[in-house]
Amino acid sequence: MTWDPRGKVAVVTGASSGIGDAVARRLAGVGMTVYAVARRTERLEALAGDHPTVVPHTADVTDQAAVDALAERVRSDHGACHALINNAGIGGGAFRGRDDLDDALRTIETNLHSVVRCMASFADLLEAGAPSRVVNVASVAGKLGIGPAAYAASKFGVVGFSEALSLSWRARGITVCQLNPGYIETEGFTQEQIKRSPAGRLVGQPDIVADAVADVLANGRTERTVPSFYRAFVTLRHLAPPLYFAVAKRMERASGTRE
Ligand SMILES: NC(=O)c1ccc[n+]([C@@H]2O[C@H](COP(=O)([O-])OP(=O)(O)OC[C@H]3O[C@@H](n4cnc5c(N)ncnc54)[C@H](OP(=O)(O)O)[C@@H]3O)[C@@H](O)[C@H]2O)c1
Repeated sequence: MTWDPRGKVAVVTGASSGIGDAVARRLAGVGMTVYAVARRTERLEALAGDHPTVVPHTADVTDQAAVDALAERVRSDHGACHALINNAGIGGGAFRGRDDLDDALRTIETNLHSVVRCMASFADLLEAGAPSRVVNVASVAGKLGIGPAAYAASKFGVVGFSEALSLSWRARGITVCQLNPGYIETEGFTQEQIKRSPAGRLVGQPDIVADAVADVLANGRTERTVPSFYRAFVTLRHLAPPLYFAVAKRMERASGTRE
């Protein structure tokens, strides 16, 4: 059965820039009411100025009380949520030792724990909106241990959490998708170094991820890689590890993670 987005309610975290901004605009464009969530209020208000069905909501997703308040607002306004896009996230530096501990824990708190927080607060609203969708924006770095270690750990966590829930929440009418982008040029992930390398042509724009989210909402898939050619690296990782690690070392040097 087709999942018609028109008139449905979506929540998009990390909507003040990059991928989240593109996703919020795309979902509003197909007729959804979109709660756009982030900490920078002025960005969210500008987004709402462009799209009348966008509802700006300022919240820090690492704050459980703030996430609960967001869910209460959606409950009071609509009584259900049909699509939760857990996208808010930050990068992380290379992990060398004790000086990097706070940075590593902040990355894991923002990228992984906040997904768990949002899914906890929205579980009953998603059930009320069934058939409903969760799209967790993980990363190719959640399938391949490449890049900053704490970032990869946070995204491997999102992938595992999503995969397990894609099985256990299905009976509740909620599909859970791990959506894994490759290199995308955004404010938080400028890709400056990789753009100057031979791998620069791999760098994409947020719109391709917004297209993939719209597609996942329509078809209920539980895994999506954007662009899809990154799946070849994941296959290589498992079928031919020595060859994969030779490629991975070059990619890591190109992205500057070791600096
Ligand atoms: N760009 C890539 O190459 C790439 C690849 C794979 C996966 N991803 C993932 O895609 C997601 C979006 O990243 P992006 O590339 O679009 O980067 P971005 O432009 O820096 O956007 C990050 C968004 O997350 C929000 N955010 C960060 N911490 C938050 C917090 N504590 N509470 C609420 N919102 C918070 C930011 O808003 P405020 O600062 O206003 O709060 C911003 O809207 C992330 O999860 C990232 O890991 C990105």
